[in-house]
Amino acid sequence: MNIGIYPGSFDPITYGHLDIIQRSSKLFDRLIVAVLSNPQKKPLFTVEERIEMIRDSVNDIPNVEIDSFSGLLVDFAKLKKARVIVKGLRAVSDFEYELQMALMNKKLDERIETIFIMTNSKYSYLSSSVVKEVSSLGGCVATVVPPLVEKRLKQKFKIN
Ligand code: PNS
Repeated sequence: MNIGIYPGSFDPITYGHLDIIQRSSKLFDRLIVAVLSNPQKKPLFTVEERIEMIRDSVNDIPNVEIDSFSGLLVDFAKLKKARVIVKGLRAVSDFEYELQMALMNKKLDERIETIFIMTNSKYSYLSSSVVKEVSSLGGCVATVVPPLVEKRLKQKFKIN
């Protein structure tokens, strides 16, 4: 079985992430969306909340599973018998960091490949951080995140 892993913080999931999930799910028998559990990053949403929002957004894609991990991504990939890590690339500015991670992961486990999918140009400016900032200041994010995410952001920031 051909298993792919799409890792990230997903704090929260955006339409940019969803686009990568939809497209990469077609490349694998199973795609595991792997949510990083890393309290040091001080995420806005708990892992459980992030998983709930992803689940609600991908429930129409049968071969997508959601899981969480801590520690090294390559160890989690090995545990899940996945040989491919999927990452989205938005702009040249993402490249240097992604190259560094891909090469380090390759050094840690040479059997694992990282593949990059170019983000849909509609979402090339989008990030979870931007979404959180706009929402926290009362801006509308309805066109860039799924409906449940918009609702949960409003709840977090106590916006009507
Ligand atoms: O959405 P993000 O925050 O850009 O995702 C980053 C992520 C989760 C892919 C990255 O931080 C990661 O893989 N963390 C796990 C720890 C690890 O394996 N580090 C070594 C990578 S070189």
